[in-house]
Amino acid sequence: MSDVDAVPSPRTHQEAASIARFANDVQYYLKLQPRQLPSRYLYDALGSALFDAICLLPWYQITRAEMQLLAAHGRSILAHIPHLTTIVELGPGSGQKLATLVRAHRQRSLRLDLHLVDVSPSALALSSRTLSAAGDVRIVTHEASYEVGLAEVAREAHAGRTLVVLLGSNIGNFDLPGAHAFMRGIRSALASGDGLLIGADLVKSERELLLAYDDPLGVTAAFNRNLLLRIDRELGGDFDVTAFAHQAVWNETESRVEMHLVSLRRQRVRVAAAELDIVMEEGESIWTESSYKYQPADLVVMLEGAGFKLAEQWIDSQAAFALTLVEAV
Ligand code: AVI
Repeated sequence: MSDVDAVPSPRTHQEAASIARFANDVQYYLKLQPRQLPSRYLYDALGSALFDAICLLPWYQITRAEMQLLAAHGRSILAHIPHLTTIVELGPGSGQKLATLVRAHRQRSLRLDLHLVDVSPSALALSSRTLSAAGDVRIVTHEASYEVGLAEVAREAHAGRTLVVLLGSNIGNFDLPGAHAFMRGIRSALASGDGLLIGADLVKSERELLLAYDDPLGVTAAFNRNLLLRIDRELGGDFDVTAFAHQAVWNETESRVEMHLVSLRRQRVRVAAAELDIVMEEGESIWTESSYKYQPADLVVMLEGAGFKLAEQWIDSQAAFALTLVEAV
């Protein structure tokens, strides 16, 4: 076995289990036609840093548009939910967006319980630090999937109302049946009168979408190709990252931007820990992510179908981005 193929030994039982899951997924998804890799694996330490850089790019407007909407309408958002005592954020990132909402919380007599749910311990540590400086809050972290974290929160008794927050257009990375099921799952963790705030990117011109997902600085290309580097490092793969091109495609019929890695030549790829040995043809692609883009009304229809009613929707029409607040019925 060469250096490239060597699989580093995991340090903990948990690490071993997550490497085994990653290896299983790589084996399964790379054998599908079309070949695929789940987008959740884009976020190792380097991938997360590249994603943070993407959020600063002038062509990727989601983060800035959402921050501005939260800053401008934070008070109105919270005014819809009297006796709010608990906010649950699914995927808190740096914690900055939730901090904006916490600062807008005017019912100072009610201390807020903040539940942060993420699979990444470093994201939980960073967001906890940001939020502990934002006001009188009690922070509970859940190092878990969104579903498991929500179930943990639902088991606790809450004195007042709860608001679940899903920002950054994370909803866009679910396919439509998955998004519907996820919304129904959130509803079942809530009581009637509780709220759900969703930030979602909207359909816009193909030109704008392709600039956002294939930026002129090549940061999104690096973010995408890093997935192959991760497979090489963690699973003993021999992907040649220079032999794959980043491609972003607007699939109008499905209303989604797809990211692909396109093989630049006929090549053999082996991944030791996944017991995988495949040949990729020139031009053959690996589909690594879908980002669904919504129409504002379609979001409302989906949320109503999951057991919510619309409270208010705020739209940044320049960036084509919507914040939608619904109430559990
Ligand atoms: C995290 N997620 C909502 C981002 C998106 O826009 O789908 C990930 C991303 N992919 C490429 N650029 C950013």
